[in-house]
Amino acid sequence: MSDIQNNAAPELDIRPLHPALGAAVTGIDLAQPLAPETFEALHQAWMEHLVLVFPRQAVSDEQQIAFARQFGDLEVHHQDIIRSNSAPEIFRVSNVTDDGKLMDPDHASVAQISLAQRWHTDSSFRPVPSKGSILHGLEVTAEGGQTWFTNMYKVYDALSADQRRRIEGRKACHDFGHLATLAPIKPLSPSEREAMPPVWQPMIRQHPVTGQKSLFISPIYNNAVEGMDDEAALALIAELAELAEDEAFVYRHIWSPDDIVMWDNRCTMHRVTPYDLGLRRVMHRATIVGDGPVVAGAP
Ligand code: SIN
Repeated sequence: MSDIQNNAAPELDIRPLHPALGAAVTGIDLAQPLAPETFEALHQAWMEHLVLVFPRQAVSDEQQIAFARQFGDLEVHHQDIIRSNSAPEIFRVSNVTDDGKLMDPDHASVAQISLAQRWHTDSSFRPVPSKGSILHGLEVTAEGGQTWFTNMYKVYDALSADQRRRIEGRKACHDFGHLATLAPIKPLSPSEREAMPPVWQPMIRQHPVTGQKSLFISPIYNNAVEGMDDEAALALIAELAELAEDEAFVYRHIWSPDDIVMWDNRCTMHRVTPYDLGLRRVMHRATIVGDGPVVAGAP
């Protein structure tokens, strides 16, 4: 058996893609279980580069799920329009139905996934937000549909003294229900509302592994900031999102079929760029449950 089939660490090749974040990883077969030393090397690379890109990984949903489970338990999304029928741990970021039909551009699911064009971190609306996500590009668009990632450690470091003063010690509200105010999607049912109340998260968080501080916002879910009226809160979130989009902090991923991209939700945000909704885009995401409630970064 070759080292790559065995997923032994010496075959691993890790090349940075951008000065701020992102690295391409080859010499690994994600369909195979990771040897302990490979897991360690990969985890270390993930903590260092925040976003890992694995080209040419034609894995099945089951293999993607098995790979993701090596990093933690997986979320099962509450909405059946998003959750895969055959593999509930797969979150379908897609304008194509589970049985392969292109959806109408004004289908509620398309409206919802199009909101991902705004910066966010996955599941920031949960009391324990996601640790990381693993996205498999099954059908990708030649134009648009890029995924941009920003390094929130660096964004935190770049805050002006005035911005720091405005967020220090404050919490922002992350509310899944806010999506329905941004796009024509079904509002939460009373039981979903009860299961997913708005959560208040510190705006500066400390990473549980690296100990580094980062700015924690998620503009598609943020609808309030402690101690501010709604207009000032949304203006502050928009101002911070604009800073996060500075090209010095952003890696722009242009998809090829069977790329797998893995990111750390605890110190990055991401967004997809617009694409022609008349074209098929099928991405399958496994979302890793977080390690625990968010820890506020000390001032
Ligand atoms: C996501 O927001 O999780 C998916 C991003 C994408 O569609 O590229």
